[in-house]
Amino acid sequence: MLDAKVVKLLNQQVNKEFYSAYLYLDFSNYYYDQELNGFGNWYRIQAQEERDHAMLFLQYLQNNGEKVELEAISKPAVELKDNKTVLEEGLKHERYVTSLIHTIYEAAYAVKDFRTMQFLDWFVKEQGEEENNADGLIKKFELYGNDPRSLYMLDSEMAARVYTAPSLVL
Ligand code: FEO
Repeated sequence: MLDAKVVKLLNQQVNKEFYSAYLYLDFSNYYYDQELNGFGNWYRIQAQEERDHAMLFLQYLQNNGEKVELEAISKPAVELKDNKTVLEEGLKHERYVTSLIHTIYEAAYAVKDFRTMQFLDWFVKEQGEEENNADGLIKKFELYGNDPRSLYMLDSEMAARVYTAPSLVL
Protein backbone atom coordinates (compact mmCIF):
# COMPACT_ATOMS: atom_id res chain seq x y z
CA MET A 1 0.00 0.00 0.00
CA LEU A 2 1.21 3.44 -0.89
CA ASP A 3 0.85 6.51 1.28
CA ALA A 4 -2.50 8.30 0.73
CA LYS A 5 -0.91 11.66 -0.08
CA VAL A 6 1.48 10.07 -2.58
CA VAL A 7 -1.45 8.23 -4.22
CA LYS A 8 -3.43 11.47 -4.49
CA LEU A 9 -0.54 13.27 -6.16
CA LEU A 10 0.14 10.35 -8.53
CA ASN A 11 -3.54 10.32 -9.43
CA GLN A 12 -3.51 14.05 -10.11
CA GLN A 13 -0.47 13.55 -12.31
CA VAL A 14 -2.46 11.18 -14.56
CA ASN A 15 -4.76 14.12 -15.26
CA LYS A 16 -1.92 16.62 -15.60
CA GLU A 17 -0.18 14.45 -18.20
CA PHE A 18 -3.39 14.00 -20.20
CA TYR A 19 -3.82 17.77 -20.00
CA SER A 20 -0.27 18.17 -21.35
CA ALA A 21 -1.24 15.91 -24.27
CA TYR A 22 -4.31 18.05 -24.86
CA LEU A 23 -2.29 21.27 -24.66
CA TYR A 24 0.30 20.04 -27.15
CA LEU A 25 -2.42 18.85 -29.49
CA ASP A 26 -3.70 22.43 -29.38
CA PHE A 27 -0.19 23.66 -30.23
CA SER A 28 -0.04 21.12 -33.06
CA ASN A 29 -3.36 22.30 -34.47
CA TYR A 30 -2.17 25.90 -34.29
CA TYR A 31 0.93 25.13 -36.39
CA TYR A 32 -0.98 23.02 -38.91
CA ASP A 33 -3.28 26.02 -39.35
CA GLN A 34 -0.20 28.18 -40.10
CA GLU A 35 1.00 25.61 -42.70
CA LEU A 36 3.98 24.91 -40.46
CA ASN A 37 3.34 21.20 -40.72
CA GLY A 38 6.73 20.21 -39.32
CA PHE A 39 6.02 22.06 -36.07
CA GLY A 40 2.54 20.55 -36.17
CA ASN A 41 4.08 17.09 -36.45
CA TRP A 42 6.55 17.79 -33.65
CA TYR A 43 3.82 18.75 -31.19
CA ARG A 44 1.51 15.95 -32.28
CA ILE A 45 4.26 13.51 -31.34
CA GLN A 46 4.83 15.43 -28.12
CA ALA A 47 1.14 14.93 -27.35
CA GLN A 48 1.60 11.17 -27.88
CA GLU A 49 4.50 11.19 -25.43
CA GLU A 50 2.38 12.96 -22.84
CA ARG A 51 -0.35 10.37 -23.21
CA ASP A 52 2.33 7.74 -22.61
CA HIS A 53 3.36 9.56 -19.44
CA ALA A 54 -0.24 9.56 -18.24
CA MET A 55 -0.48 5.82 -18.89
CA LEU A 56 2.74 5.17 -16.98
CA PHE A 57 1.35 6.93 -13.88
CA LEU A 58 -1.92 5.05 -14.30
CA GLN A 59 -0.12 1.72 -14.67
CA TYR A 60 2.09 2.40 -11.66
CA LEU A 61 -0.96 3.03 -9.48
CA GLN A 62 -2.61 -0.14 -10.74
CA ASN A 63 0.56 -2.18 -10.24
CA ASN A 64 0.43 -1.11 -6.61
CA GLY A 65 -3.21 -2.06 -6.16
CA GLU A 66 -4.44 1.52 -6.11
CA LYS A 67 -7.67 2.71 -7.66
CA VAL A 68 -7.32 5.26 -10.48
CA GLU A 69 -9.73 8.19 -10.58
CA LEU A 70 -10.09 9.81 -13.98
CA GLU A 71 -11.05 13.47 -13.74
CA ALA A 72 -12.22 15.87 -16.47
CA ILE A 73 -9.47 17.26 -18.67
CA SER A 74 -9.54 21.06 -18.88
CA LYS A 75 -9.70 22.99 -22.10
CA PRO A 76 -6.18 24.18 -23.05
CA ALA A 77 -5.91 27.56 -21.35
CA VAL A 78 -3.07 29.14 -23.29
CA GLU A 79 -3.46 31.96 -25.76
CA LEU A 80 -1.54 31.02 -28.92
CA LYS A 81 -0.56 34.48 -30.10
CA ASP A 82 2.20 33.80 -32.60
CA ASN A 83 4.69 31.15 -33.68
CA LYS A 84 7.27 31.98 -31.03
CA THR A 85 4.87 32.49 -28.13
CA VAL A 86 3.64 28.93 -28.52
CA LEU A 87 7.19 27.65 -28.02
CA GLU A 88 7.63 29.85 -24.96
CA GLU A 89 4.39 28.53 -23.50
CA GLY A 90 5.76 25.02 -24.09
CA LEU A 91 8.85 25.74 -21.99
CA LYS A 92 6.76 27.38 -19.28
CA HIS A 93 4.51 24.33 -19.18
CA GLU A 94 7.41 21.89 -18.95
CA ARG A 95 8.89 23.83 -16.03
CA TYR A 96 5.52 23.59 -14.32
CA VAL A 97 5.39 19.83 -14.92
CA THR A 98 8.90 19.50 -13.48
CA SER A 99 7.68 21.24 -10.31
CA LEU A 100 4.77 18.77 -10.10
CA ILE A 101 7.09 15.77 -10.41
CA HIS A 102 9.35 17.23 -7.73
CA THR A 103 6.37 17.72 -5.41
CA ILE A 104 5.45 14.05 -5.76
CA TYR A 105 9.07 13.11 -5.18
CA GLU A 106 9.17 15.18 -2.00
CA ALA A 107 6.00 13.49 -0.72
CA ALA A 108 7.47 10.03 -1.45
CA TYR A 109 10.77 11.01 0.16
CA ALA A 110 8.99 12.21 3.31
CA VAL A 111 7.46 8.75 3.91
CA LYS A 112 10.52 6.78 2.70
CA ASP A 113 8.58 5.44 -0.28
CA PHE A 114 11.67 4.26 -2.16
CA ARG A 115 9.63 2.40 -4.79
CA THR A 116 7.83 5.55 -5.89
CA MET A 117 11.06 7.53 -5.79
CA GLN A 118 12.66 4.98 -8.10
CA PHE A 119 9.65 5.13 -10.44
CA LEU A 120 9.88 8.94 -10.48
CA ASP A 121 13.60 8.94 -11.24
CA TRP A 122 12.78 8.30 -14.91
CA PHE A 123 10.46 11.33 -14.93
CA VAL A 124 13.03 13.57 -13.23
CA LYS A 125 15.47 12.76 -16.04
CA GLU A 126 12.74 13.03 -18.69
CA GLN A 127 11.78 16.50 -17.46
CA GLY A 128 15.38 17.63 -17.85
CA GLU A 129 15.24 16.49 -21.48
CA GLU A 130 11.82 18.03 -22.07
CA GLU A 131 12.90 21.43 -20.73
CA ASN A 132 16.07 21.24 -22.78
CA ASN A 133 14.11 20.42 -25.95
CA ALA A 134 11.62 23.23 -25.34
CA ASP A 135 14.43 25.71 -24.69
CA GLY A 136 16.28 24.51 -27.79
CA LEU A 137 13.22 25.10 -29.96
CA ILE A 138 12.99 28.72 -28.78
CA LYS A 139 16.69 29.29 -29.49
CA LYS A 140 16.38 27.78 -32.97
CA PHE A 141 13.33 29.89 -33.66
CA GLU A 142 15.18 33.03 -32.57
CA LEU A 143 17.99 32.14 -34.97
CA TYR A 144 15.97 31.01 -37.98
CA GLY A 145 12.32 31.93 -37.43
CA ASN A 146 12.33 35.37 -38.98
CA ASP A 147 13.68 34.43 -42.39
CA PRO A 148 11.14 32.53 -44.55
CA ARG A 149 13.69 30.22 -46.17
CA SER A 150 15.36 29.38 -42.86
CA LEU A 151 11.96 28.83 -41.28
CA TYR A 152 11.08 26.45 -44.11
CA MET A 153 14.26 24.46 -43.41
CA LEU A 154 13.56 24.43 -39.68
CA ASP A 155 10.00 23.29 -40.30
CA SER A 156 11.34 20.46 -42.50
CA GLU A 157 13.64 19.41 -39.64
CA MET A 158 10.68 19.34 -37.27
CA ALA A 159 8.78 17.19 -39.77
CA ALA A 160 11.41 14.46 -39.40
CA ARG A 161 10.54 13.72 -35.78
CA VAL A 162 9.09 10.23 -35.35
CA TYR A 163 7.30 8.73 -32.39
CA THR A 164 9.20 6.35 -30.14
CA ALA A 165 7.68 4.52 -27.20
CA PRO A 166 8.96 5.54 -23.75
CA SER A 167 12.07 3.73 -22.50
CA LEU A 168 10.36 3.12 -19.15
CA VAL A 169 8.36 -0.10 -19.15
CA LEU A 170 6.31 -1.12 -16.12
FE1 FEO B 1 5.00 14.61 -19.34
FE2 FEO B 1 6.30 16.93 -21.02
O1 FEO B 1 6.06 16.08 -19.38
